[in-house]
Amino acid sequence: MPKPTKRILSGVQPTGNLHLGNYLGALRNWVRLQAEYECFYCLVDLHAITVQQDAAALRASTRDGAAMLLAMGVDPSKSVLFVQSNVPAHAELGWIFNCVARIGWLNRMTQFKEKAGKKKENATVGLYVYPTLMAADILVYLATHVPVGDDQRQHLELCRDIAQSFNSQCGVEYFPLPEALILGEATRVMSLRDGQKKMSKSDESDYTRINMSDSPDLIAQKIRKARTDPEPLPGDPKGLESRPEAKNLVGIFAALADRAPADVLKDYGGAQFSKFKEDLAELAIAKVGPITTEMRRLQGDPGHVERVLHEGAERARAVADPIVRDVKEIVGFLRA
Ligand code: TYM
Repeated sequence: MPKPTKRILSGVQPTGNLHLGNYLGALRNWVRLQAEYECFYCLVDLHAITVQQDAAALRASTRDGAAMLLAMGVDPSKSVLFVQSNVPAHAELGWIFNCVARIGWLNRMTQFKEKAGKKKENATVGLYVYPTLMAADILVYLATHVPVGDDQRQHLELCRDIAQSFNSQCGVEYFPLPEALILGEATRVMSLRDGQKKMSKSDESDYTRINMSDSPDLIAQKIRKARTDPEPLPGDPKGLESRPEAKNLVGIFAALADRAPADVLKDYGGAQFSKFKEDLAELAIAKVGPITTEMRRLQGDPGHVERVLHEGAERARAVADPIVRDVKEIVGFLRA
């Protein structure tokens, strides 16, 4: 079987409440890359249960997450959209990778440290091995490229280490070393309340993020209340250094407008934040609003969303199953 050279896999935690960081850092790129790559996109429910979930809520948020991805422009006639747990090959390869990755490698993962916090002993084993499953998600399709936000960089490095280690342990050139695609002007969108903290769905305050399902009024209010500093905007990006909140808002503006920050600052250099925020709110509403409307429409048609996911899982299994079969052969498992 010839190996793919331009195949993408990426994943997102199942939630209908995706935020602007998810969108600008990754999901918008998923949509754009569909034109050029063979794409597999999944809602990672196996990853979601590494922290406790309510069953009914997980089911609903998986369906809503899929509706949101479709609303953003993931197109099932171009890409394979599916739910991770519907393709058992991910978990199977994940186990094999648990037997390749080293404890020392996982101990270095900053996301585990952040998510487990002070209660490390109480975190699930699943949360600890989260990155090995993520490597399996990618490599079970022999994906070559992975569009993600900047926060996933370390996980992608681990994925390459696992691929390389598997190949050299088994004396094969089976897995590719996938490349992260970290693209655009907003690869790390920060909290609207604290320019040092990442915009995140788990932040307690809803005012730290813009959700893709927020109403226009709420978006405007959140941007108006976003933290800034007392200085006017600088005339060029150098003036944003050591001004994290200003830098974040300019980055968001640039990404939404598809312009470079330097270009945006040509228009706003010397302006007060009040004027800039007004224009940013208008721009954000114009970009987010149609997605929210389409998401609501799709929520009213759950049958369609489920059909897309069902068909996506079939197409994903057709690619992943033979790859796991190869891997089992390489490892030395007796065929059934
Ligand atoms: P998740 O669900 O946390 O986020 C989905 C995508 O959004 C990006 N992202 C951000 N980008 C910029 N600024 C932010 N503040 C921000 N917050 C989130 C993330 O980088 C991600 O690309 N581990 C992954 C899901 C996953 C995956 C995979 C990704 C599972 N398997 C295989 C790629 C390949 C995660 O939790 O993403």
